[in-house]
Amino acid sequence: MSKLTRPKGTQDFLPPESERRRAAEAVFRRLAETSGYREIITPTFEHRDVFVKSSGETSDVVTKEMYSFQDRAGRDLTLRPEGTPGVVRSVLENGVRMPCRLYYLGSCFRYSRPQRGRYREFGQLGVEALGEASPLTDAEVIYLGYDFFGSLGISDCTTQVNSIGCRECRPLHRKALVDYLLDRTGELCADCRIRIERNPLRVFDCKVETCRAAVQGAPTPREYLCPACRDHHERVLAELRRRGLRHEPNDRLVRGLDYYNRTTFEYVSSSLGAQDSLGGGGRYDYLVEEFGGPATPGIGFALGLDRALLAAPAAESPARRKLAFVVWLSEAELGPAADLAGRLRADGIAAQVDYDARKVKGQFKAADAARAACCIIIGPDELAKGVFSLKDLATGEQREVPSDAISAEIRRLLVE
Ligand code: HAM
Repeated sequence: MSKLTRPKGTQDFLPPESERRRAAEAVFRRLAETSGYREIITPTFEHRDVFVKSSGETSDVVTKEMYSFQDRAGRDLTLRPEGTPGVVRSVLENGVRMPCRLYYLGSCFRYSRPQRGRYREFGQLGVEALGEASPLTDAEVIYLGYDFFGSLGISDCTTQVNSIGCRECRPLHRKALVDYLLDRTGELCADCRIRIERNPLRVFDCKVETCRAAVQGAPTPREYLCPACRDHHERVLAELRRRGLRHEPNDRLVRGLDYYNRTTFEYVSSSLGAQDSLGGGGRYDYLVEEFGGPATPGIGFALGLDRALLAAPAAESPARRKLAFVVWLSEAELGPAADLAGRLRADGIAAQVDYDARKVKGQFKAADAARAACCIIIGPDELAKGVFSLKDLATGEQREVPSDAISAEIRRLLVE
């Protein structure tokens, strides 16, 4: 049989990296929950239409990157490339009362060329505030993502903000942009020539050098904002300033998904190379309606867990884990060793026993390999005296502890 390897673009997370990942997720949960968000868990796959109708028929995500398949009954399904459409679908399907603040975390899947920071399965941490129209919500959402990156110790995160207008002002910008691009079709790639008709905003996202040069002088959505959108945008920026959140205007930030209007934003890191977007989001005031629901404003973001962990300083892994290893001297103490491990676990202390070891030396080796903080040794003498021998594996110091004080003593040792 040929060697079994993981599929291209996927990753394995072994300890301690798996623990670092879960710790970052815990930070996100805490920040989201303290801002009033509650967790929503939606399926990892949805009907393909959920994404086509929202992320957009012209976005790269939908046209080039989706993992779509038919199930055995011929249903068209797609592994979620992002969280937002599933959340909106679920909120409508379940008749959730608005306003509601929801957060989610989990894997997303995009078939793109893997490189550092870009994977085919990757983690997203997202929030969606549905039913909130105020520009103060925009600023608070932007602040939440920024706060998360700060909490991970990421110091080079730049927050870029833009507004792409609404149903009123976008057609005017679109027309100006199409006229501008039609004058420059010779400089555009084949994809962008198609984009002129289908969704000219997408040309701003194109990575092809000649296209990037061609849009340098293109009319930007911001120049065409209607008074209501301009006022909204200015209030978002004023609130970000008031909160002391450093941000940069980026009037070419249109984002690669079709559902946005007004505020768009992205967190960028200079330490990531080509895949420099740590996360991004924006307003999507028409999406609920487009899914057949009542007119409901919405705003949210998704942060890239993999990229956040690449940009964050590597946590110093502690020399020892908060783990107690129970060592038995002869077969007669196997039962008491298992009982002690059970007692410690009930007291909230992680405990492990090496049941296979033939010799004490082997058990100490196993304790060291597990990076346990201490060993508790049980032999016939200890059992007779009603004590345990507690050995601190960091210092090598060993002493006897009365059996009923063992949990308290271990706890003291673990916090040292
Ligand atoms: P997005 O910009 O497509 O937005 O993705 C958000 C973040 O996911 C990116 O900034 C990046 O950090 C991460 N990401 C995307 N693709 C990959 C990949 N192939 N490998 C690693 N990380 C990746 C959204 O998904 C929207 N749903 C955000 C949103 C929520 N807008 C409103 N609400």
